[in-house]
Amino acid sequence: MSSIFQNQVVWVTGASSGIGEAMAKDFVKRGARVILTARRAERLKQLADALNAGSTVPKAKVLVADLSDLDSLPELSQRAISLFGQIDVLFNNAGASQRGFVVDTPFEIEHKMIKLDLLSPIALTKAILPHLVSRKSGRILVTSSLMGDLELPGNATYACVKHGINGYFYSLAFELRSMGILVQVLQPGFVKTEVSMSAITASGELHGKMDSTHENAMTAEEFSRRVFPKIEKGNISIVIAGKEGVALWARRWVPSLYRFFVFKFAKKYLKDRMVELKTK
Ligand SMILES: NC(=O)c1ccc[n+]([C@@H]2O[C@H](COP(=O)([O-])OP(=O)(O)OC[C@H]3O[C@@H](n4cnc5c(N)ncnc54)[C@H](OP(=O)(O)O)[C@@H]3O)[C@@H](O)[C@H]2O)c1
Repeated sequence: MSSIFQNQVVWVTGASSGIGEAMAKDFVKRGARVILTARRAERLKQLADALNAGSTVPKAKVLVADLSDLDSLPELSQRAISLFGQIDVLFNNAGASQRGFVVDTPFEIEHKMIKLDLLSPIALTKAILPHLVSRKSGRILVTSSLMGDLELPGNATYACVKHGINGYFYSLAFELRSMGILVQVLQPGFVKTEVSMSAITASGELHGKMDSTHENAMTAEEFSRRVFPKIEKGNISIVIAGKEGVALWARRWVPSLYRFFVFKFAKKYLKDRMVELKTK
């Protein structure tokens, strides 16, 4: 498959499952080489082995890291560059969702989420940027969410970080365009991944359940299939969603209707989250 990503090096964070794993496979199908980062080393190794099978040159290399360790990220980024000698695309995708009311959630938990979901993509971007600027080319992708433009009960910190991602990376897109660097913000709706299982609750434990909203959603492979043509076209804002995408439309154009709907019907449509919140 010929692609603009042919021979490019793509650093994919959050590559051990879900969207990152599916897109890493599709980058390699397009002729790219990938650096796979997450905490679960065994999962990354299995993916790298599958991607490297039958090839004489490595197409995938593993770089295990906990991205919420912000102090380690400048050095980690240098290690990433040295793995293939360059990085053409930084795909900031790792993240965790949330299930918990603000009143129940200790600040430490919110701080942990803000470090992983907002500060770590900013830190990685700043660490890789001089490399891209010196080569006058490159691309920064970031996985935001519909939640980058929405607000929901039980998701205040997640809304905070994804709104922050939108503000930062859409602004950066303007700054870097004249330097030959493209910034693209992906805003998925519900995708059937481990995201609800690994969502962080008010106690700091993982939610540990697949919500029905995600169980019945598009797969990560479908998300990847739908997102790549828009990435390759060079779109800066890429929304890929099912019928939940109507919430984005309502929030943008009729915000009062959006608020009315959330106040009135959130319990029905977000029942998995609300059940947990109600039982507290
Ligand atoms: N699925 C959806 O419905 C949806 C919708 C909108 C936006 N998103 C966003 O999409 C992105 C990918 O999520 P997903 O849906 O694919 O969920 P996922 O399957 O849970 O993937 C999350 C990835 O992030 C990695 N990760 C989590 N904490 C990490 C840490 N401290 N250090 C390094 N890596 C870490 C995980 O790997 P390890 O656990 O191995 O570290 C995993 O590879 C996230 O930014 C999420 O907010 C998802």
